[in-house]
Amino acid sequence: MDWTPTVRLSRLQREQRCIWPLGDNEVLLLWYAESVYAFENRCPHQGFALENSVLDAAEHSLSCPLHQWRFRLGTGQCLHNQSALKVYETRLQDQRVWIRLPGG
Ligand code: FES
Repeated sequence: MDWTPTVRLSRLQREQRCIWPLGDNEVLLLWYAESVYAFENRCPHQGFALENSVLDAAEHSLSCPLHQWRFRLGTGQCLHNQSALKVYETRLQDQRVWIRLPGG
C-alpha cells in the first residue's frame, strides 16, 4: 500500500479538522486528544459530508449531522448497525499527516 502526504500537522492541530481532497473523494482529518484520525468524508448512511460532525468526548465517537448516526473514532464502526466509516491509517512524517491509500 502507498502512503500519501496531507495537511501539515501544525495546521491540523490549530484547526482541529481539515478536509483533504483525494481523487474523487475527500478525507476528513481530525486532531483530537493528541491523536490524528482520518475518515472518508462521507457518511455510509446517505453520503452526507462529515466536516460538521460532532465529537463526543465521553463516547469517543463522531456523530453525523444529518441523522446523528454515531461512529467510533478509532475504528469507524457505527454504534447503531453494522455499517462503518471508511478509516485511513495515519502516520506523522516530515511535519505532515500521511494517510495510507487502500489497495495502493
Ligand atoms: S447521512 Fe449520516 S446518518 Fe444519515
